[in-house]
Amino acid sequence: MTEKNLNINFQEFASVEEMLPEDRELVAEAIDAMKGSYAPYSHFNVGAAVRMSNGQIVKGANQENAAFPSSLCAERTAMYAAGARYPDKDMMSIAIAGGVYGRITDSPATPCGACRQVMAQYQTKAGHKHKMSVIMVGAKVIWKFEKVDDILPLIFDSI
Ligand code: THU
Repeated sequence: MTEKNLNINFQEFASVEEMLPEDRELVAEAIDAMKGSYAPYSHFNVGAAVRMSNGQIVKGANQENAAFPSSLCAERTAMYAAGARYPDKDMMSIAIAGGVYGRITDSPATPCGACRQVMAQYQTKAGHKHKMSVIMVGAKVIWKFEKVDDILPLIFDSI
C-alpha cells in the first residue's frame, strides 16, 4: 500500500479589485444574475455567469419548484442556456455568487456536486483547447480555481 496525496491550488482575493478586469466583470455579472433567482422555498438566491470563447457572457439564476427535485441551480441554468445559445463555442469561465434574501454570503458560494459534473462535461467538450476556470464569490473573499479538475478531482468524463 502507498499513501497518495491530491493537492489543489487556487487563488484567494480579498477584493474584486485585485482580480483581472475580465474576471472582475464576470463576478459583477454573477452578482447581477442573483436578481433572476426564483427561490420561494429556500430564499437562497444564487446567480451564475458564464464567459464564452467569443467573449459573450450568459447568466443564470436558481429556479425552484414546489416539486423540489424539479428545481435547478444557478450554475446549471447558466451553463445549459450558454450551451444552447452558443453550441459551437467553449465555456472559458464561470462565476457564482449567492446569499439568503440577496445578501451575499461572507464565504464563497460553492457549487454542488451535480453542477461540478456539468462543468466537467463542458470542459471536456472544449477538448484540449482550454480548461474552464471557476470563480466563487463571497462578500469577504473570492476564490478562483483554474480548472474544473481542481474542484472535482478524479473526474468521470467518458464511458
Ligand atoms: N443552489 C444553487 O443555485 N447553486 C449551488 O451551487 C447550490 C445551491 C440553489 C439550489 C436551491 O435553489 C438553493 O440554492 C438552496 O439550496
